Amino acid sequence: MEFKLSSSTPSNYSGPAIIVPMFSEGEQPEATKALDATLSGYLSSLIDNKDFKGKAGESLVIPQANGPRLILMGLGKSPCQAKDFIKAVQSAASSLKSSAADSALIDLSGIAVDGFDAHWCHQHLAHGFQASLYHFDDCKSKAEDAPATPTIQSLEIANGTDFEKAIAFGQAMAKGQNLAKKLGDLPPNIVTPSYLAEEAQRLAGLSDQMTTTILDEDKMEELGMGSFLSVSKGSIEPGKLICMDYKGGKDGDAPHVLVGKGITFDTGGISLKPGASMDEMKYDMCGAASVVGTMLSVLELKLPINIVAVIAAAENMPAGHASKPGDIVKAMNGTTIEILNTDAEGRLVLCDALTYAIENYKPASIVDIATLTGACMMALGSVNSGLFTEDDNLAQELLGASQSSKDAIWRMPLQDEYQELLDSNFADIANIGGRLAGATTAACFLSRFTKGYSWAHLDIAGTAWNSGGKAKGATGRPVPLLLTYLANK
Ligand code: BES
Ligand code: MN
Ligand code: ZN
Repeated sequence: MEFKLSSSTPSNYSGPAIIVPMFSEGEQPEATKALDATLSGYLSSLIDNKDFKGKAGESLVIPQANGPRLILMGLGKSPCQAKDFIKAVQSAASSLKSSAADSALIDLSGIAVDGFDAHWCHQHLAHGFQASLYHFDDCKSKAEDAPATPTIQSLEIANGTDFEKAIAFGQAMAKGQNLAKKLGDLPPNIVTPSYLAEEAQRLAGLSDQMTTTILDEDKMEELGMGSFLSVSKGSIEPGKLICMDYKGGKDGDAPHVLVGKGITFDTGGISLKPGASMDEMKYDMCGAASVVGTMLSVLELKLPINIVAVIAAAENMPAGHASKPGDIVKAMNGTTIEILNTDAEGRLVLCDALTYAIENYKPASIVDIATLTGACMMALGSVNSGLFTEDDNLAQELLGASQSSKDAIWRMPLQDEYQELLDSNFADIANIGGRLAGATTAACFLSRFTKGYSWAHLDIAGTAWNSGGKAKGATGRPVPLLLTYLANK
């Protein structure tokens, strides 16, 4: 869709629809008051008579005999809360999408969201509308089974001249997030490690600021990535280490690195998972998907820094040639690892990806994103992603980005005291730490490979997708967080 700055106002607009922000109580936003006056008090009468209550996320489409449709957008109580604003935008976008109109005008002037400025409002407006266009019908064979194709052509924004950048930012963010969702939702027989590699190459083809390097298993063998290969060797699908190198900054400036877990299907390996909901393990590549999505947003925005994305892509399968519990393997940095559970495979592929990223790029910062542990999901549910880092500055940057993007994260402990849970009788470390503190021991494992670097780990096991029923699907998180974090650099 297109976002256009408009010189019209709701009071003189003659297009297909006007989105009208309305509070449930208190004084209405400026533009709404002006429109209300043009309509001889019709809007306030709707609130007075409770035909429209203005609750956050409530919306109502009103056709007019001689004029644009009115799409009322409830904001809840004034002053508007960030959560309510986001809900309101989502609901208005979906009303517009399902209405007969394919474009609309909106004027946000005079809306103050508690704690945020008008740039934030315009960013989230663009994000919400662009995000609403996500739909997944790639695998439906009959058109009538597919969700209706979205119909928003454009959103015109009145009084928006100062907010062009914020609008572009929100739109780019949603495009990246929608790509991450698409990669997550596609089935695991399509999204293989090779598919992710091709997707990375496709992105690089969009811009001459980006190049890709794909390491195949032979190359990884040469580099001594015994840990990564111990996972990928169980599958017929060859593992890939995918590097996307974006140069938006000065030559020689150390890049900020994102590392994504790209297990395109996690059966658990020989430590096989139970059958119920195992299909959801197609989402075990959502860390990788969020990294690819973020890179798309970065390309759109041409961020002025150097960024590298590294994706550890493999399939975790049981097979005659798969790893067994008790196997000991050697990681690229020389650490020997006793594999006590083949289902703790994410850390096994990530550790070599982290070593590779560090040795190759000497990053200014390195953040990995992984659907790493059921334990993190148990601890934080689907609200927060888990943040693990010993670097307080990096933690503050990520928490700040989380605040403004509204992509929630929660800092979890990562102290030395937990490290001994990874002790092994036979190798340098074990790949699991027992029943206690499972999300932290997973992070401890990774920390062994990032010493001396500014590193954080995001466990997105609970936030990367919605489970079960109609809501089942990838969320595209934490693209909003990652993009905001990088843009603030
Ligand atoms: N991909 C899973 C983590 C996961 C589980 C994400 C459920 C989302 C929902 C990961 O590879 C895994 O299997 N982790 C194990 C680790 C354990 C064996 C120490 C887990 O969490 O059970
Ligand atoms: Mn697993
Ligand atoms: Zn996994």
